[in-house]
Amino acid sequence: MSSSENKVRNLRSRFPSLERIENGHRLVYLDGPAGTQVPLEVAQRVAECLIHHNANRAGKFITSQEVEQIMAEAHEAAADFLQADEPRSVAFGPNMTTLTLGFSRALARTWSPGDEILVSSLDHDANYTPWVLAARDAGLTVRTIGIDPSDATLDMESLESQLTERTRLVAVTAASNAVGSLTDIPAIAKLVHRVGAELFVDAVHYAPHRRIDVVGWDCDYLVCSGYKFFGPHIGILYGKPDRMESIVPYKLRPSPDTIPGRWMSGTQNHSCIAGLTAAIDYMASIGEDPTDPKPMATRREKLDLAMDWIEAVERELIQRLIAGLKEIPKVRIYGIVDPDKSHLRAPTVSFCIDRVDSAIAASELGKKGICAWHGNYYALPLTLALGTEPNGMVRLGCMHYNTTEEIDRTLEAVRWIAR
Ligand SMILES: Cc1ncc(COP(=O)(O)O)c(C=O)c1O
Repeated sequence: MSSSENKVRNLRSRFPSLERIENGHRLVYLDGPAGTQVPLEVAQRVAECLIHHNANRAGKFITSQEVEQIMAEAHEAAADFLQADEPRSVAFGPNMTTLTLGFSRALARTWSPGDEILVSSLDHDANYTPWVLAARDAGLTVRTIGIDPSDATLDMESLESQLTERTRLVAVTAASNAVGSLTDIPAIAKLVHRVGAELFVDAVHYAPHRRIDVVGWDCDYLVCSGYKFFGPHIGILYGKPDRMESIVPYKLRPSPDTIPGRWMSGTQNHSCIAGLTAAIDYMASIGEDPTDPKPMATRREKLDLAMDWIEAVERELIQRLIAGLKEIPKVRIYGIVDPDKSHLRAPTVSFCIDRVDSAIAASELGKKGICAWHGNYYALPLTLALGTEPNGMVRLGCMHYNTTEEIDRTLEAVRWIAR
């Protein structure tokens, strides 16, 4: 067994759900893009907060002060995860969609009728419709960045050609949750800033696969979601501190005027926020090498190493999966399939089986213990552009906890369905 396989085995032992057997089949979780599995230590941290530190904030007693500490730790952990300069530039909320809907209303206050925004066909609807609705209310024109349908990647020419001095915002994903295509966020940020516009990045699908770097990328705003990277259901919103201070949120009078509190409405989900810190610590622990005489000092350094390792492990899985799918007659894959371009994709693949409805294919996979998603996974702008509505596609998403045996079992099942 290689050292990498050994490491995967050790990591898997931290996820009780990976042991589950149904109808004689050990479950294969390839539904990670819809929500990953959770290590025991994360669930324990959530429970620990509810059992021992259950209080509201700002009280003059010990459990309330402990919750303050839990929140401070979570802002610190999230800043490490996103490589933000300041913990206060990160706000939490129920999920990415709710945060984006709320933030879009507030940002729209800074726009004027006749201004323009750009959304993309590669995106999940959560980074599309909030902006379309906000633009409609504020009298803006909405333009759509197209895709190259041959490999379902963002069309950079379409983006560049539609940027004007009236563009106020570009909203784009860092990785497609449907087909895995990555976008070049630093390059997009440069183009967007050249015309004086701002960039809002959806990193929900990107987060479990690659290292986010809000400062290095120079994005103005970024969102992601804890349950997509081994944590609980918590949304995360980053914004450049000066903008988060100057934009006026829709908020209640008792909410603080300072960041990040002015962007965090109502009582927060403290226990899940504690679990989010644990999820980030879990990911950082992947970067630890117990045999290294000079162990990494900081969580950021560990996360750097962890994400490099995750990328390498996942690349092997996705290459094996795509190579196998390509050999199955009647299977049509959407997205990048060239193994030489696998650095340009996340390990998520969508495909159709000729004359088989995606729901039926997913249901047959489910009977064999393989958890796969079907339909459009809310990536409606993309599935409309690809023409896969209404039957949809089947999606298989690898995570670092998946194994080559699981990929082979899945390929065998797809072969059986296609026959
Ligand atoms: C790429 C992408 N963006 C946004 C979302 C919405 O995230 P949330 O469920 O946290 O609202 C999802 C959820 O599937 C997603 O995959």
